[in-house]
Amino acid sequence: MAIDRVICEVDRVLRTLWAPASSVRPIPGAELPDADLSAVERSHVVGLMRVNHCGEVCAQALYQGQALTSRDFAVREALCVAANEETEHLAWTERRIGELGGQKSLLNPMLYAGALSMGVAAGLLGDKWNLGFLAETERQVEAHLDAHLLSLPAGDERSRAIVEQMRLDEIRHADMAIIHGAAELPSSIKFTMKVAAKIMTKAAYYL
Ligand SMILES: [Fe+2]
Ligand SMILES: [Fe+2]
Repeated sequence: MAIDRVICEVDRVLRTLWAPASSVRPIPGAELPDADLSAVERSHVVGLMRVNHCGEVCAQALYQGQALTSRDFAVREALCVAANEETEHLAWTERRIGELGGQKSLLNPMLYAGALSMGVAAGLLGDKWNLGFLAETERQVEAHLDAHLLSLPAGDERSRAIVEQMRLDEIRHADMAIIHGAAELPSSIKFTMKVAAKIMTKAAYYL
C-alpha cells in the first residue's frame, strides 16, 4: 500500500476516535426544544446515545476495513458514500451525548480495532460476502434502533429525531449492499453477530 494511503487511513482512525465529527446535513431535531428529563431518564438516554455512538465508531472501522480490501470500484464507491453518512451519525450522536452532559464510550478504541479486523476479514472473503456482512450488520442496527425508539423517554424529541434519521439511513445502506450483490449469510453467522452486538451494546451502555 502506498505511503500516502497509509497516512490517509491512519488519519481516518485518529479522527474517528479523537476528533469531533462533522455533518453536512443539518442535525435532525436540532430545531426541537430539549425535553425536561429527570436524572434517571437523562442517564438512560446518555447510555442509549453512547451505545449508538459506539456503534457508529464501529461502522467507520467496518467500512474502512471493507473498502481497503474490496476488489470492485463501484462497491468501494458505494462503501465510501455510506461511510460518509456514518460520519454524520457519529457527529449527531456525539453532539447529543454532549448536550446531555455525558461521555463517549471508553471502549471505542478497542471496539474500533475489532471492527476494523472484521471489515478486513469480510473484504478478503470477496465482495459478495463483504456486502452480505454489511447488509446483515445494517439490518441488525435497524432492529436495535427500533428498540431504542421504544425505549427513549416520550418527551425526548431531539434524541428521537436523530435515531429516526439514522434508522432510515441504515435501511438505505442495507439496500445498497443488496443492490451491489450481497450474499445472504448463514444463520449461524447471523446469530454470532447478534450475540457479539448484544455484549458490545451492554458494555457501551455503562462504559
Ligand atoms: Fe450509522
Ligand atoms: Fe449504516
